[in-house]
Amino acid sequence: MRSLISIKDLSREEVEALILEALKRKTLPPSPSFSGKVLASLFYENSTRTRESHERAASRLGMDGIGFSGTEGTSVKKGEPLADTLRMYEGYGADVVVLRHPLEGAARYAADILRIPVINAGDGANAHPTQTLLDLMTIKEKVGSIDNLRIALVGDLKYGRTVHSLVAGLSLFSNVQLWLVAPDAMQMPSHIVHDFEQATSSTVMRTANLQEDVDIFYMTRIQRERFPKGPDGEYEFQKLSRLYHVNAALLKDKKVGIMHPLPRYKHRLEIALDVDALPNAWYIGQARNGLFMREALLSLVLSGTQPEKEAHKTEEAWHPLPIKNGKKMGEHMVYRLDNGTLIDHIDAGKGSSVLAVLGMGDVPFIYARNIRSQRSGKKDVVGFTDRELKPDELNKIALVTSSATVNIIRDRSVYKKGKVVLPSVIDNIVFCQNPRCITYKEHAEHAPQKFHVMSHEPLVLRCHYCEVPIKREEIVLKEN
Ligand code: NCD
Repeated sequence: MRSLISIKDLSREEVEALILEALKRKTLPPSPSFSGKVLASLFYENSTRTRESHERAASRLGMDGIGFSGTEGTSVKKGEPLADTLRMYEGYGADVVVLRHPLEGAARYAADILRIPVINAGDGANAHPTQTLLDLMTIKEKVGSIDNLRIALVGDLKYGRTVHSLVAGLSLFSNVQLWLVAPDAMQMPSHIVHDFEQATSSTVMRTANLQEDVDIFYMTRIQRERFPKGPDGEYEFQKLSRLYHVNAALLKDKKVGIMHPLPRYKHRLEIALDVDALPNAWYIGQARNGLFMREALLSLVLSGTQPEKEAHKTEEAWHPLPIKNGKKMGEHMVYRLDNGTLIDHIDAGKGSSVLAVLGMGDVPFIYARNIRSQRSGKKDVVGFTDRELKPDELNKIALVTSSATVNIIRDRSVYKKGKVVLPSVIDNIVFCQNPRCITYKEHAEHAPQKFHVMSHEPLVLRCHYCEVPIKREEIVLKEN
């Protein structure tokens, strides 16, 4: 099988099969069916449960382990890029990598550059899919079904990667009602909520108050390590970490199950110790389920053959349009262009952006702003002599303006004409603006820029790595 980077990589059927397999393994003695295989467990961030359960699961499967727990004592401290460290572990015989890293998209990047499968054990605030698998396993075990569930996610919904993945995981199931319990400053990123609402055709409830009439409270720790450094961040943390607590008195006579990815924060317990002895306390068993789920996952990942990496397909950067008579009708200036390119039907006001992204420092041959257009009311037109555009330049125009048509003029005639169209994947021309993304320049990981086109009108792109979406007006293009 392939890597597990996001819970969205799995279908409902695959999640259910993993849950059944993990529940089965819970009742069986370990069987060392992968003896001789090697797990590289690379933890750039603190961990107890996720690391130990993967390593213990590997050893129950008969595997050997290599790797590190924290970067102290490794060459990461000498400034080694992530890619080099990963390739080295692959070279030393790892059959699978489990990676935890503070940058969002680190695991996707690892999967893109390695030939062996990668399991995402948490990439910054982005995702934690194996946690979701064990969370769903626990719900299935306790409730019997994951459909028709009422669940409140409580606490740090902004930075908590466990709840980000859980919302995506729950969207695979039917009739799940979600309450997002957090103050505005800690609410869940809107694109995650949007994806859930789209997938389930339901509306998520956001509230700052603990919603009690539900089947499950999913409590979370305030992710102090992801707050801005300095007194402001510290103040916010202190304020927020006082907000949500459950204790035995609150739960009296209530059936609600209490889940938590753990650890809880000992200085301001989100779950009081007096809950531990109640039947509502699911979190200890939940953490233990991680062992069997990771055993099921490792065995699935190691049993399959890794699919061939898809060869990169070059997509056409324009759709050809018919040429009427070889002459560009309309504005007289066009007739003056002997050889070159004329970009017509640019959204009015976007002509200067088109020139900027093409690196046209000099005055172009033609630059008409806000002129009459039969098609769209007003338009800009840009033309230049002795230059034809390359595919990535056509892509850039399509990112700036949706309706542009490009005419290649040779010997005063329109030789080729087309409407610019965006490919489904945009490589290396748009910068991700999420400062926590693996591709962000300051992190110097040299990961390439890559975006998926999610929708054309309105234009929405999504970073291949950190998964943060951007709209047309937020796009920052690489200059020529
Ligand atoms: C979580 C994590 O690391 O995101 N822990 C875990 O893996 N069980 C939650 C947390 O640290 O608060």
